[in-house]
Amino acid sequence: MGGEGEKETVTGYIAQLRAKIHYHNYRYYVLDEPEISDVDYDRLFTELEELERKYPELITPDSPTQRIGAKPVAEFGTYEHSIPMLSLNSVNTEVAVRDFDERVRRMLGVEEIEYVVEPKIDGLAMELVYENGVFIVGSTRGDGKTGENITQNLKTIKTLPLRILSETAPLLEVRGEVFMPVSKFKELNDSLGAKGDRMFANPRNAAAGSVRQLDPRVTASRPLDFFAYGIGRTEGKAFSTQWDVLAYLHKIGFKVSPLIRRFKEFEDVIKYHDAVKEKRDELDYEIDGIVVKVNRIEYQERLGLISRSPRWAIAYKFPAREEFTTVNDIVVQVGRTGALTPVAILAPVQISGVTVSRATLHNEDELRRKDVRIGDTVVVERAGDVIPEVVSVIKSKRTGAEKEFRMPGRCPICGADVLKEGPIVRCIGVSCSAQLKEWITHFASLRAMNIDGLGEKVIAQLCDREMVSDAADLFFLTKGDLLKLDRMGDKSARKILNALEKSKHTTLSRLIYALGIRHVGAHTASLLADNFSELESLRNASYDDLVHIQEIGPEVAKSIILFFKQGGTKDLLGKLERAGVWYEKREAAAEAKLEGQTFVFTGRISMAREEAKSIVERLGGKVALSVSKKTDYVVAGEEAGSKLEKAEKLGVKIIDEAEFREIIRDG
Ligand code: IVH
Repeated sequence: MGGEGEKETVTGYIAQLRAKIHYHNYRYYVLDEPEISDVDYDRLFTELEELERKYPELITPDSPTQRIGAKPVAEFGTYEHSIPMLSLNSVNTEVAVRDFDERVRRMLGVEEIEYVVEPKIDGLAMELVYENGVFIVGSTRGDGKTGENITQNLKTIKTLPLRILSETAPLLEVRGEVFMPVSKFKELNDSLGAKGDRMFANPRNAAAGSVRQLDPRVTASRPLDFFAYGIGRTEGKAFSTQWDVLAYLHKIGFKVSPLIRRFKEFEDVIKYHDAVKEKRDELDYEIDGIVVKVNRIEYQERLGLISRSPRWAIAYKFPAREEFTTVNDIVVQVGRTGALTPVAILAPVQISGVTVSRATLHNEDELRRKDVRIGDTVVVERAGDVIPEVVSVIKSKRTGAEKEFRMPGRCPICGADVLKEGPIVRCIGVSCSAQLKEWITHFASLRAMNIDGLGEKVIAQLCDREMVSDAADLFFLTKGDLLKLDRMGDKSARKILNALEKSKHTTLSRLIYALGIRHVGAHTASLLADNFSELESLRNASYDDLVHIQEIGPEVAKSIILFFKQGGTKDLLGKLERAGVWYEKREAAAEAKLEGQTFVFTGRISMAREEAKSIVERLGGKVALSVSKKTDYVVAGEEAGSKLEKAEKLGVKIIDEAEFREIIRDG
């Protein structure tokens, strides 16, 4: 096959592949009804990527591979809308929305008007230009005439088609709203908060902050979505109703709100408003009202505009989600993982039908950034079923009597010290009632004390009924206690008691891990057990002792020191001992049969050096790197070198691997 011919075939094949991917994207993201598995999808995508790498000249801007990866820009260019993007007049009352209907009918001189009703998405208005079905430019509304060109950012939105599904007009301008789903907003905020980064006040701000990023890669990492609700200029395509516009947009691959309806009776519009208002909290996107639009475009044209708003549409808003109130106090709440969260106690205020008297301030950094003080007048927002939060402080209302708040140095629940991890302050108490369930779950887990049969439900009941107040209490439970629990029979109770009994005989590393010291995972626990033969010595270890251990950094060392300083820790350890928890001391177990003996290894043996070393040490011996008169054995493997010569010279005993294995047998 000649070069040109091959290329033509490839071009055709790539086009087919892209069409397939566009289609499956649409099934997956827009319809939420995938037809193929993720693996098959990835296979198609990878194949396209590979072909494009081989033939970069065949890459087109609408290729599904071109959603992400564009370089950051210094600033956005401007974009002139060919038809101005209007704003909507809005009303809050039934009377006012009925006035709108009357005005429309009077001006048109018709009795019967059909309306299309849509939810008013609380996001940001965008315009997307498609030429011959390919997405060319995307822009913000701006002042209505001129917006910003944010094409690269909009391309990263998975529900925004890069290419329209079916054959289409030479020009189509699609208008709609970019938003962030409420659930995704929560996740994003949690992860920003955990990193100590600035959080967003609400999903709309999060969407705004994400879509206007100068680096499209940041936008790509943000969970944005898009609903289409209208068109701008078109060529080769005309519509007679808004309903047809929405149906067409849906047909060619856009996400259109499933809540759109059309009504001939205005009563139904009112009912729709009330029904959607009720459903507001169930939706995964924020809406702040409904939009009522005259369906017939001919009527729309006859009605025209008034200043910058159409006379043929109106926003009928829901009650605001934001209210003013005062901060009566700031308290600290301890979460189940021990995180201390500052919470504003508010003068109770009604926000869209719900009384709000507390709002989260997230963490100390956020609180400082917003500069919230006790006595302040603040704006509080309740978005969806998200925990209400303080959005901002009205500083002009300050009298000077406001009090700044400081995070406590101790846990307000149990009095233990707190440890700051980035922006999060955490209680390290071992018997903190706020954390008891988590604590005991960890204590009983497989890699910790491995208490079989002590599941989540049993732990929850033990804690809720206050049958245990720390982990050691588990060992004092009687069969009679356990039988009081729901769905606990004789057999299960016996099983749990056996498991508890069995777990008492443990190892030092398990016990250290089970203590739940911050930053001490199973691996670190076993390192500590290797370096301290007894819990007592770990307890008395100094900061220097700890940081001298390889792999133990300052943060971990500090956490260990602070942990053992707690009164609660001492009580718990005493109680565990009284309960009969014990671990075998390593030297004793190994009979210290190599006590005082030094080994040097040279050459290759079949056992890993590290393993050999750890066996010798476990048996009480030492491993040195060079041969001296003090060396007891030189273990010579294959291709042994100068150490062997030195051993011969000094008269040190030389053994081979088999003899070494004999010595350590039973170890
Ligand atoms: S129609 C001429 N429909 O509300 C009509 N707008 O103040 C102009 N919005 O900037 C817009 N949902 O950001 C329309 N279903 C919807 C909408 C909607 C949200 C926003 C849009 C616009 C603002 C109007």
